[in-house]
Amino acid sequence: MKKWLCILIAGILMACCGRKTADRDYLHETEAERSERMAWWREARFGLFIHWGLYAVPAGKYKGEEVWGTGEWIMNSAPIPVPEYEAYAARFNPVHFNADEWAGLAADAGMKYLVITSKHHDGFCLWDSKISGYDVMDRTPFKRDILRELSEACRRRGIRFCLYHSIMDWHHPDAQGIFYPAYNTSKTNPGFQRYVDTYLKPQLEELVSGYGPLGVLWFDGQWINDWTLQTGRDLYRFVRSLQPDIIVNNRVGKGGTGLSGRKEESVGDFGTPEQEIPPQGLLGVDWESCMTMNDTWGFRESDLNWKSDTTLIWNLAETASKGGNFLLNVGPTAQGLIPQASVDRLHRMGQWLRINGEAIYRTRECQIPEQGKNLRFTQSPDGGTVYALYLGRPGRGVKIKGLPLLPDSQVFLLGHEKPLQWKCEGDALNIEIPQPLAENPPGFIAHTFRISVRPMVEKPRFSQDQKISLNEPIFVALESPTPGASIHYTLDGSIPDESSPLYGEPVVISRSGTLMARAFKHGMAPSTASETSFSILDSTANGMTYALYEGEWSSLPDFGKLKPVRTGETWSFDPAGIRPGGDHFGIVFKGRIQIPENGAYTFFIKSDDGSLLRIGGKPVAVNDGLHGPVEAQGSAAFLKGLHNFELGFFEATGGEALEVSVEGPGMRKQPLPPHWLIR
Ligand code: GLC
Repeated sequence: MKKWLCILIAGILMACCGRKTADRDYLHETEAERSERMAWWREARFGLFIHWGLYAVPAGKYKGEEVWGTGEWIMNSAPIPVPEYEAYAARFNPVHFNADEWAGLAADAGMKYLVITSKHHDGFCLWDSKISGYDVMDRTPFKRDILRELSEACRRRGIRFCLYHSIMDWHHPDAQGIFYPAYNTSKTNPGFQRYVDTYLKPQLEELVSGYGPLGVLWFDGQWINDWTLQTGRDLYRFVRSLQPDIIVNNRVGKGGTGLSGRKEESVGDFGTPEQEIPPQGLLGVDWESCMTMNDTWGFRESDLNWKSDTTLIWNLAETASKGGNFLLNVGPTAQGLIPQASVDRLHRMGQWLRINGEAIYRTRECQIPEQGKNLRFTQSPDGGTVYALYLGRPGRGVKIKGLPLLPDSQVFLLGHEKPLQWKCEGDALNIEIPQPLAENPPGFIAHTFRISVRPMVEKPRFSQDQKISLNEPIFVALESPTPGASIHYTLDGSIPDESSPLYGEPVVISRSGTLMARAFKHGMAPSTASETSFSILDSTANGMTYALYEGEWSSLPDFGKLKPVRTGETWSFDPAGIRPGGDHFGIVFKGRIQIPENGAYTFFIKSDDGSLLRIGGKPVAVNDGLHGPVEAQGSAAFLKGLHNFELGFFEATGGEALEVSVEGPGMRKQPLPPHWLIR
């Protein structure tokens, strides 16, 4: 073809693609488009989080005193006046920073991506920003573009470079700075939109065009009052229009920092549970658990509360077994060093992954439920291989229940070449480990068995998770990701088999209870059951009362002595439903709980900050104090019937969350069913 013709065709193609990008509706893409964009991330499973900024200079101390909270929040927690905090920049001179070493550390640990704070809530920028003078080039003696060096090093090492970027900005006068010293997130900033248009967006443009392509943009600080679902949607579209295949976390939208995943009323590509691995994973959405190695994100000199290798490795296995990614944090010092304790742990994780990585990367959630404390499962995408991860030394034998074995199934211990002998005992697989191998297994901490099985049909998915409805039935559509599979379901809590009703039209749920579904296909092993529970509430009987208080507390006050600013009725413990956004408030919920049968129950209260649950006047679960989303639990025996309860909660600053769960006779831990609440 003639050269000019090639150029012309290329030009037309580019113009068309360009137009397509501009017109594309990034909020509504097909599952196939999504899967293509998310593919590398879903396979990666393990990433490095780096919280680094000026907060590494005070390292948790202000005026010689330890400041409570995580290191990167010190500006707010102390609090430290803006000009004083700015002065840390003159002392930020991380001469030991070596981008190749950091990228190499991540690669050696078996991590596939790295997320570093381009800007945390304190507003300080780790790159040479033309939009801001508050950055590493203009303010510090270091004068090196950290993101430039690290992005290039990551590329050299085959690590996807990703950025964490705070929406809230304590340094910018239009984005919370003006309410100094409280950085009061319950107020709004009149100039906030100006900040978005002239600062936040142009900075993101700089980052995507100058340091991209980026793997992920990881937003945070979205709980401030200025941020809405609408601004979140707009920002999501904006970043995708800059780089269409970029992946964005759910904190670009509104809502808590925690569990909310990709739902109709939310925005973003994956859920971001923080400091926890949700017991059931996140149903139907991509998700990533982010976690610290000690108790802080940003460096804090005094924090030596390191998690053990065992905990970290098992957390990675546990996350993968539930279908999620694990984003593990390090907080480098102001000299540019990653604490040795973190380096050592990452190194061990890498060693472990070199033997067991096959059970982590590119695997998906396994439908074989966990068995006891030390058996977790993942499976290959075609469902024909199950990986059983065993915590500890397996000894001479391991028993695994419920696997769809073939007469010629093969069982291997990863790291050991020869297949192992096995027997079937009832529905259990009994793996036999010969003496020398049992004494000297190839791995450490957790061992993986690779087992070939009859491919399993994938579990059915529920179309939507509208779990609560008021007086109205709920319609639930089901689908199986395995083409040609048929679905059978039950509504009475029993496990469906092929004689249970066959799914055709959406199921009409008109009573509170559980929907269970399994998929079947000739020639394949049936799926395990998917289950979800629904509450159809009666507006005249269900619900509870609430009283809202305002005040600043560091532990639960005696609410009885205070005057509420508002009272009302509600069906949900979600503080955002009563007091959207904001800080410095408390809520007392009161009502009756309908205990379904006699027996021992455990109640869990997860809250940010403190909470206390009393049933029948007695404290059942106590979770008081200032903290992030932390869970407490308590158990007691209850008689079937109605019991008075009272749940007190307060929120100081930062994110807010309150979730109540229950575990009881014959029921796994689950959010407290709203139909148990009677006024
Ligand atoms: C939180 C904190 C923050 C940390 C982050 C990590 O919301 O505000 O300091 O960066 O989450 O998930």
